[in-house]
Amino acid sequence: MSEPRKKITLPYLFKKVADGEPITWLTCYDYPTAYLQEQAGIEMILVGDSLGMTMLGYESTLPVTMDDMIRHTQAVRRGAPTAFIVGDMPYMTYQPSVETAIRNAGRFMSEAATDAIKLEGGAAMADRIKGIVDAGIPAIGHLGLTPQSVSALGGFHVQGKDAHLAKRIIDDAKALEKAGAFMILLEMVPDRVCKLITERAENCIIMSLGSGPHAHGQLLIYHDMFGLYPRFKPKMAKVFGNAGEVILNGLKGYHDEVIGRQFPAAENWFGMKDEEYDELVKMLD
Ligand code: KIV
Repeated sequence: MSEPRKKITLPYLFKKVADGEPITWLTCYDYPTAYLQEQAGIEMILVGDSLGMTMLGYESTLPVTMDDMIRHTQAVRRGAPTAFIVGDMPYMTYQPSVETAIRNAGRFMSEAATDAIKLEGGAAMADRIKGIVDAGIPAIGHLGLTPQSVSALGGFHVQGKDAHLAKRIIDDAKALEKAGAFMILLEMVPDRVCKLITERAENCIIMSLGSGPHAHGQLLIYHDMFGLYPRFKPKMAKVFGNAGEVILNGLKGYHDEVIGRQFPAAENWFGMKDEEYDELVKMLD
């Protein structure tokens, strides 16, 4: 039997970078999926506020609350005890002030045993990152397409396609690194911009979501990988298996078998001994 995996730590992640080995990261929001991701050897898990869309059916991530996040993150931690779990700070839980940001980051650590938190935004959020890091909490920045600002960004589009916007993302990455972020996620940024940022990072791990192969590791949204989010499939999301189709076929099968009286079969129910049954009937008579 193989040894159980040791806890994934910050030094482990930096060693992977130093060894030139890519880091694996996926979103996850529930216990059974966390269990499977842990078994598969996934190193990092993001309990993303995307759960507002993928699990709760909202149109955007904006209605998600800290309490939603804490409940789901606790379930994920129970399923993946050794993964490096990142709590994603929901809308307006860090934007209002540094103090609000520290308090809510602290909730992730104390109530849900996360290893780090992630928040969206560039230089304007650098003081939030610094405050959180000064409070002893590892912090991750998120640049490029930042879903909480989708309205200001004008939709779910690639960010930094022209030189000026790309330069701003590169400057933002430096500001977050200087503020103490140990990792930055680049979402939907052109591959060469991601490469420039990765090459310039001194003490910061750069991760890609749809930003190409040059980062130190990759993140994907679990529901996109397995056909579990029916509303749309972004280009960056490779489908690694169509679980949505498998489940839908299974559900139709169940429906048809109940209607057709094929389910349940004898192996799906519980009986009792004849003498007990006869006595029961006598008692009823
Ligand atoms: O909430 C989330 O899953 C995210 C990803 C889109 C990176 O923040």
